[in-house]
Amino acid sequence: MVGFGVVGKGVATILARRYAEKVKGYGFNPKVVAIADIDGTVVNPRGFKPEKLEAIKQRGYPISADPDFGHPGMSALEVIDSVEAEVVVEVTPVNIKDAEPALSHITRAFKTGKHIVTTNKGPLALAMPALTELADYNNVYLRFSGTVGGGTPMLEFAKRCLAGDKILAIKGILNGTTNYILTEMSQNRVAFQKALKNAQNLGYAEREPSMDIDGFDTACKVVILANWILNKKITLKDVSRTGIRNVSLQALDKASKRGNTIKLIGSINGEGATVKPTEIPKNNALCVSGVLNAVTFFTEFAGEQTLVGRGAGGMETASAVLRDLLDIRHKLASKVFT
Ligand code: HSE
Repeated sequence: MVGFGVVGKGVATILARRYAEKVKGYGFNPKVVAIADIDGTVVNPRGFKPEKLEAIKQRGYPISADPDFGHPGMSALEVIDSVEAEVVVEVTPVNIKDAEPALSHITRAFKTGKHIVTTNKGPLALAMPALTELADYNNVYLRFSGTVGGGTPMLEFAKRCLAGDKILAIKGILNGTTNYILTEMSQNRVAFQKALKNAQNLGYAEREPSMDIDGFDTACKVVILANWILNKKITLKDVSRTGIRNVSLQALDKASKRGNTIKLIGSINGEGATVKPTEIPKNNALCVSGVLNAVTFFTEFAGEQTLVGRGAGGMETASAVLRDLLDIRHKLASKVFT
């Protein structure tokens, strides 16, 4: 595992808590053999016992101070090169300028024959078409269900449950922070800056507020949906993007008088990929409040299908990592590479 922040710690907690159950129910026996953080690593080629994982988590930063397994200064790339493992779980913070260090972690994992499970939107937003090709070329899997919808399986729902249908377009509220801000503004008349501060205190906001409020986070998710679900080989630069800085209380009031409200909507259709504040009816299935996310898939035969759920949070996103690990396990068991 590379990265030991809120998602990495969530993964450790879930593996420790649900270990016995998963082994029994799915024949799934994951072993964490190394964790890399900024300070260094902990490595145990035999796999950390659940209670040791929990102890490493409880002790916190710097993890490499562990007296039994710590390697201060050992980098993630060194771990990926030298430690025997099947999967690298990449859960470092997002960077949409050059996607580093995650991009190097992912490509190195591929080159050394390791599958990737990531919750990091940066590399996918900037280079998803190339990364999926590179995974195929190296005969490994790239899984990323935690990048869109957090714990809510939006990508799986579209890919698997709607597999017999044709998805024509996708529309969604894909960012919890901006949805919270717009909800607070419209329902409680809270000013923009105060609502943003509240969202940051709730722990949903990105480190860099512009990622959320200028629509970059939504645009990253639009790129991932477009590539994975609609097979459109786009990257972040192809998304037309407007954030919510200019949405005023007055505009929300006016929309409300028409029975509508304003949401930051990401959409992909025949005309392209866009992120922009959009007036939608309050009784539309997409119109969810607070930090919730919602996505509607417009299908040829089954009509509109909307999925609603929490799109962020450490444990929620960590549950998506476990989902991806199980998926890889199933794929390997059936030896079908797709
Ligand atoms: N900042 C993001 C949000 C986190 O508010 O939805 C999940 O990608």
